[in-house]
Amino acid sequence: MDAIVLLKDDHKTVEKLFKQFEKAGEKAHKEKQKIVEQIINELTTHAYIEEEIFYPAARKEVPETKEHVLESVEEHHVVVWMMSELRNLDPKDERYDAKVTVLMENVRHHVEEEEQEWFPQVREAMGRKQLQELGEQMEKAKPQAPSDPLALLSASQ
Ligand SMILES: [Fe+2]
Ligand SMILES: [Fe+2]
Repeated sequence: MDAIVLLKDDHKTVEKLFKQFEKAGEKAHKEKQKIVEQIINELTTHAYIEEEIFYPAARKEVPETKEHVLESVEEHHVVVWMMSELRNLDPKDERYDAKVTVLMENVRHHVEEEEQEWFPQVREAMGRKQLQELGEQMEKAKPQAPSDPLALLSASQ
């Protein structure tokens, strides 16, 4: 599996969950909480493989991505703290939907930058074989991802 294809697939999975959340009714608290749990699991695993494998490889092999990678980590930082707050927030709280909405805005902006601005640079600089190897490494690392978003590297950076 090509590393960038794998990451884009994850982005699509998360976008589907966002759409589900947006469709859920105002009072569908249980349903929304379940969707948010899935969003947190998907995003935590995704951020884990990016931070542990893809971002360091990009920085090393494609030095001109350095600023993008640093900005991406800062964006992860905001998102992981929001996720940790959401885990402890009652879905009936008046701030719940607002917090999820801002989380989604942040992630959509972040995904757009990855996919439009710097993943193409990585694709161009790395060969197909290298991207395949990275993809395999990330696939293998997924089960080792923490369940707590605050256990991610970006939480304490
Ligand atoms: Fe990311
Ligand atoms: Fe990503």
